[in-house]
Amino acid sequence: RIRSGRRIPEWATFPEVVRTLRRSWPPPRKQGLTVFFTGLSGAGKSTLAKILYSRFLELGDRPVTLLDGDIVRQNLSRELSFSREHRDINVLRIGFVASEITKNRGIAICAPIAPYEATRAEVRSRIEAYGGFVEVHVATPLEECEKRDRKGMYAKARAGLIKGFTGIDDPYEVPQSPELRIDTTDLTPTEAVKNVLLFLGEKGYI
Ligand code: PPS
Repeated sequence: RIRSGRRIPEWATFPEVVRTLRRSWPPPRKQGLTVFFTGLSGAGKSTLAKILYSRFLELGDRPVTLLDGDIVRQNLSRELSFSREHRDINVLRIGFVASEITKNRGIAICAPIAPYEATRAEVRSRIEAYGGFVEVHVATPLEECEKRDRKGMYAKARAGLIKGFTGIDDPYEVPQSPELRIDTTDLTPTEAVKNVLLFLGEKGYI
């Protein structure tokens, strides 16, 4: 059974199978796409996501939606804490919205911490049913994130004022096979996004 719900008969020849699949599965740049940034707080997810968002707006061929961690927390997940259960609910909500956008051939750019591998895998499998999924691990090391400490949250977490802070006293499971891994320590945000765009270009997503 293929994506459109039709079945390819068992007796179909190989060229028939290929032709049917090509008809049912448009080329990547005509499909929806989710770019899913994951990484520690302060790794640079939001910065990269925002730049990528404006690049897609400039391209202008598909509607693009930014689902940044903080924005989603304010608008969709305000009642949720940072317990494992609530983080999973939050990330699955983001995944659901992204899957709807991808299904309708738009582009979703997500940027939550998404610390758990199993939850990211769940989001991936739901989105891949409808279009492209590109996981970008923003792999800036903890020391660098903590040095930047843009929101002053690491200092609070170290002082025990915030409990269960990712990377300090809460886990971040490093993605095992993301499409891209980018450490922003020695890169400008524009250079980092260029790597994402090059990858998307190579794979035919843009
Ligand atoms: S998650 O784990 O994916 O649900 O997290 P997310 O929704 O992306 O929210 C991360 C931002 O919330 C702030 N914050 C915390 N982060 C981690 N752990 C704890 N306990 C916590 N409490 C608040 C933090 O500033 C994150 O912002 P970013 O943009 O990632 O730096």
